[in-house]
Amino acid sequence: MITQKSTQKSIVLCIMYILTITSVFAEDTASTIRSYLNFNEQGELIRPTGYREWIFVGTPLTPNDMNKGKAAFPEFHNVYIDPVSWARWKKTGKFPNGTLVIKELVSVGSKQASSGNGYFQGEYIGLEASVKSEKQFPEAVGHWGFFRFTIEGSKKLRKTAAVQASENCTACHHANAATDQVFTQYYPVLRASRGKDTDSK
Ligand code: HEC
Repeated sequence: MITQKSTQKSIVLCIMYILTITSVFAEDTASTIRSYLNFNEQGELIRPTGYREWIFVGTPLTPNDMNKGKAAFPEFHNVYIDPVSWARWKKTGKFPNGTLVIKELVSVGSKQASSGNGYFQGEYIGLEASVKSEKQFPEAVGHWGFFRFTIEGSKKLRKTAAVQASENCTACHHANAATDQVFTQYYPVLRASRGKDTDSK
């Protein structure tokens, strides 16, 4: 028989359980926020880690074969956005302060698979990032800074990267990207979720 006392006890236990779970998640989110975006004393971006577990938004490719053998960016670009900014994007349709977008470079590997001829990913060969931060880039257009961790001719990456000169990166992004210097025109994941609370809408 269930007594009133045992029912009360279960309710108390249940509330304690919910509180514990909530605080675990809160801590998790806080450590994500703390860990993904860090600058050193010289204002260089410390190479982010763990981004392959963020939100994957797309993979543009401009292969050499389609650009007279001289594509400006001949490798695959696997693009990710940090989870905190993704959540804000879904709600507001805007990239918030602190947005970090990662572009991981992957070589073109095989051009044949059992499914047919095409372009298939080879090896990781580089890393670039764009960051929106009013604090770090008060004067930059849209407060975006661009970073390159790739070391030419090496598979290793820089541990930190200085912000690129505006003419190297910002100018093209500002002139051509559909949304606030991000090329959302090539990322259906971002377009479909823009300003929507759930993925299913
Ligand atoms: C001539 C134009 C141009 C220049 C210069 C350029 N980019 Fe981009 N960038 C693009 C385009 C187009 C895309 C999306 C398609 C793709 O990846 O090929 C892109 C995508 C990106 C992305 C993924 C997020 C997004 O905005 O779509 C990052 C990060 C990025 N570029 C960083 C850089 C950095 C760092 C530099 C400078 C070292 C740079 N870009 C220079 C055209 C440019």
